[in-house]
Amino acid sequence: MNTYILGIESSCDDTSAAVLQNDMLLSNVIAGQEVHRSFGGVVPELASRAHQQNIIPVIDAAIKKANITKNDLSAVAFTQGPGLLGSLLVGISFAKAFALGLNIPLIEVDHLNAHILAHFVRLPQPPDGIPQKPAPVFPFLCLTVSGGHTQLVLVHGDEEMEIIGQTIDDAAGETFDKAAKIMGLPYPGGPVIDRLAKEGDPKKFTFAKPRIAGLDFSFSGLKTSILYFIRDELKKDEAFIEKNKTDLCASIQASIIDILLKKVVSAAKATGIRQVAVAGGVSANSALRKALLDAGEKHGWDVFIPPFQFTTDNAAMIAMAGYFKFNKGEFGSQNATPYARKK
Ligand code: KG4
Ligand code: ZN
Repeated sequence: MNTYILGIESSCDDTSAAVLQNDMLLSNVIAGQEVHRSFGGVVPELASRAHQQNIIPVIDAAIKKANITKNDLSAVAFTQGPGLLGSLLVGISFAKAFALGLNIPLIEVDHLNAHILAHFVRLPQPPDGIPQKPAPVFPFLCLTVSGGHTQLVLVHGDEEMEIIGQTIDDAAGETFDKAAKIMGLPYPGGPVIDRLAKEGDPKKFTFAKPRIAGLDFSFSGLKTSILYFIRDELKKDEAFIEKNKTDLCASIQASIIDILLKKVVSAAKATGIRQVAVAGGVSANSALRKALLDAGEKHGWDVFIPPFQFTTDNAAMIAMAGYFKFNKGEFGSQNATPYARKK
């Protein structure tokens, strides 16, 4: 018998709903929130209000697009955390009411685990025109890089995730966003830097490199180095950013990727694991994707790059994490409360 899981994601500024038939994606609807753009970052209060407006139309669209009715659903999986509490509450409240109304189980999902489990979602059509490769096999290594997190995770199972390295200060996505802000580029800066970097020289400018032992990351030194360098250059030439925009983007991007890649290489060596995956919003970065594939060839890894639609926040990954738990009979309760930070 088929299992139909409705996934609901509302941890930050994207309201998303998806339906899976077992591990096959039937729909994945995402409503972004333009309202934050002029503030240069996500405004929590505005995010929860926008989720409240979006949630019903997004869920309705996901169920219709999946070509099922709500009565076909086997369970409702929702993001419990980490994330913005006011945003999470919108998704959780809806999920509780919907599951109660349909008399089906609720499933609590951790957002970061779900980013990694996105690799297990099967697509009816080849993603991005490339045939979908089989999912990784446990255990594998995953670099999770998003706006709020940068972690190296040893993935033993769908819930057995061992963090073997993480940032001690800023996250990789945050570094992209802050660098973009320094250059006067719009939020979120990651995709903008990615696009402009394609025209630039990644070796034109060099910035401070962190010296952090082990598998942890640090990005605050790089951020300060970018800030001071640009500030000094602007004193000499007011048009410095405008004249060097693409080279700045390419050089900043190359520095971030260099920091990430070095630790992935160390982690693969330390664990002896040769399956390497990447997850989270920054895994949409074209240069990071290429750098990982190149490193895979060099070091003999099997590299797993997610389809674009599963890189930034989406509910397909939430439904997938829900499907794993559904098969184990691990259900949540009406008492579930959101959490802001990783449990
Ligand atoms: O996973 P995500 O959608 O939300 C969080 O859970 O944080 O990640 C958002 C982050 C933002 O910092 C954004 O700038 C970054 O992912 N991002 C990118 C790209 N697309 C999104 N960073 C670099 N290159 C991209 N193409
Ligand atoms: Zn995320």
